[in-house]
Amino acid sequence: MALVIKTIYVLSDFTLYHSCLANTKTRRSERAFANATYEKTFKIFCLVDVLLSFQHDGLDLWLTDDTIKAVILDMLGGNGTPPTTLDWAMAEMMRNPRIMKKAQDEVRRVFDDKLGYVDESNIDELKYLKSIIKEALRLHPPVPLLLPRKCTKKCEIDGYEIPVDTKIIVNAWAISRDPKYWENPDCFEPERFLDDLVQVDYKGNHFEYIPFGAGRRICPAISLGIANVELPLAMLLYHFDWMLPHGMKHNEMDMTEEFGASAKRAKDLYVVPVIKRPLLPVPPFK
Ligand code: HEM
Repeated sequence: MALVIKTIYVLSDFTLYHSCLANTKTRRSERAFANATYEKTFKIFCLVDVLLSFQHDGLDLWLTDDTIKAVILDMLGGNGTPPTTLDWAMAEMMRNPRIMKKAQDEVRRVFDDKLGYVDESNIDELKYLKSIIKEALRLHPPVPLLLPRKCTKKCEIDGYEIPVDTKIIVNAWAISRDPKYWENPDCFEPERFLDDLVQVDYKGNHFEYIPFGAGRRICPAISLGIANVELPLAMLLYHFDWMLPHGMKHNEMDMTEEFGASAKRAKDLYVVPVIKRPLLPVPPFK
């Protein structure tokens, strides 16, 4: 049964990438026909348009349909990881009201000065918010077992002989909770990353912390992934206060992880928003 569902899922994915490409092609040819002068009237509407614009003759970089489908797959493949991180960060803060308050104070201090528009321009000032995201990724790496590796040469690690062709699964989840490297490993303590002495980054150079993997197969979208967590989280904290439903207590929250290749929350997170700073209308473009 599971295999059938997986197969349907994979097939529907392929159909999606194929139809995404086919639809964009149809739209572009209809426009070209209607406007006769294709080059002058051609407009970029979406990512697929940009990729298709590399299908003209005479370009140094020429993309085939298959390459374009692979790029779309790469872009969509990692789409679940930023929401999973956001979900865990919110859940951990709901369980730790002190941390939630400290993060809200920071975001509101920075963006109240910007007339209430939360955007990327001042995100780098949010040191505490960044450390919350780092800590959420330490406790709940969304890809807990990374991508599988295969050993191409016989080698020895810690006295263990690893034969050629051995399939290696790296447990990033266990590594980032290892008490040898982390004090209070199971506690959510963003402050640990504020300390200048603990300058651990995402680039896979510190093997005790590899939520994006390491080496040649490291996630190619670290910056995009983090940006997709930082801004939404800053907005959620700036505009709303958050409460648990039905009088639930902070320490009653169920933090069970789903079992599988991705470590989402097993149960949906229910929270009640209370508007603190309403969204302002977007200023007109100049
Ligand atoms: C918080 C966000 C994200 C996290 C934590 C994350 C984590 C990871 C991890 C752990 C891997 C495996 C690395 C390894 O085995 O060494 C990976 C691979 C990958 N990620 Fe991400 N990712 C995130 C966001 C994204 C986004 C937004 C995209 C695409 C837009 C993306 C695209 C990919 C792709 C294409 C690979 C496979 C690379 C390969 O085949 O070697 N990721 N990611």
